[in-house]
Amino acid sequence: MAATLVQSAGLSALNSVRASASQRTSAIKAVPALRFSKQRRHARIIVSAAAASSSDVPQLEAPPIAPLNRQLPEADERYDEVKVLVAGATGGVGKAVVRQLAAQGIAVRALSRSGLKAAGMLPPASQGVEIVEGDVYRYSDVAKAMKGCTAVIIATGPTDRLNPFGSYQTDFEGNKNLVAAAKQEGVKKVVLVTSIGTDDPLFPLNLLWGVLLWKKQGELALQRSGIDYTIVRPGGLLNEPRAGRTVGNVVIGGADAYGLPPRRRPGSILRTQVAECCVAALVEPAASNKVVEIVTEVGAPPLGFTELFSSV
Ligand SMILES: NC(=O)c1ccc[n+]([C@@H]2O[C@H](COP(=O)([O-])OP(=O)(O)OC[C@H]3O[C@@H](n4cnc5c(N)ncnc54)[C@H](OP(=O)(O)O)[C@@H]3O)[C@@H](O)[C@H]2O)c1
Repeated sequence: MAATLVQSAGLSALNSVRASASQRTSAIKAVPALRFSKQRRHARIIVSAAAASSSDVPQLEAPPIAPLNRQLPEADERYDEVKVLVAGATGGVGKAVVRQLAAQGIAVRALSRSGLKAAGMLPPASQGVEIVEGDVYRYSDVAKAMKGCTAVIIATGPTDRLNPFGSYQTDFEGNKNLVAAAKQEGVKKVVLVTSIGTDDPLFPLNLLWGVLLWKKQGELALQRSGIDYTIVRPGGLLNEPRAGRTVGNVVIGGADAYGLPPRRRPGSILRTQVAECCVAALVEPAASNKVVEIVTEVGAPPLGFTELFSSV
């Protein structure tokens, strides 16, 4: 049984290797309690920690892994029993969210318009990722995908820039569908990724088919739903640091903190950092019912998300 668990915990094992010696020791000590644990996630993390330090367990070959930030908790009980629907799972942020959730052993249902595309880029079912096909513009697809989920992270966005209705369909109708289905299913938490500038009708991005105006309508649908929410509005998204530039630490402002003057200058942020913020928002009480604008700043102090959310 241990061998099966160890195999299915490939990513956790890698994380554990990175854990400090003291963390590893306490995890190994916890192994006898394993059979009493109801949470599969705990079991996976504990066993993988033991495996990483045991000479008679074969070393795992490193699977591809998204870079994990120091702030990700290794075994946070607040994620027990959580099953997350990730909408936009094949997008830049969505993919990073799925990978980070899977790396922590959290159950994920990844919603994508193309199961084939999703399967080619997301962790396998053995790492707790279930892929479902669906279009957020169709309520029936979304309602089906939502079944059994307790939380939702929405990282969809219009991908066809030539489609004048893309933002209306995805950011407005799509998000309305997701929120309605979440309400119907009794989902506890919805984290929605939109954008800096959403409160400002004059923000230049609106020249692109009114994209921010539709995102704002999607936000309002969530805020009116009564479901606990966190709206995460990132600055310019990057897949990797710009050549020769240092990536700063995450900083968070409240609604309308960044944008055109007199607001603060909107900066940029890695998609993996946005994903990390979304995963943290699922369980951080300080993120409850908040709109947060998120960028990075070189020289900013390296704060955890509890402090960051509390500052808004
Ligand atoms: N680019 C930036 O600098 C920037 C800055 C701030 C905020 N944002 C916003 O941040 C969010 C995440 O950005 P990103 O760059 O990670 O997004 P992205 O890579 O463009 O991915 C968007 C995702 O949405 C999915 N999607 C689109 N329409 C859908 C539909 N009708 N049904 C189901 N899925 C649908 C796409 O799936 P397919 O694979 O099927 O197309 C894709 O997985 C977006 O809302 C974006 O507008 C972007």
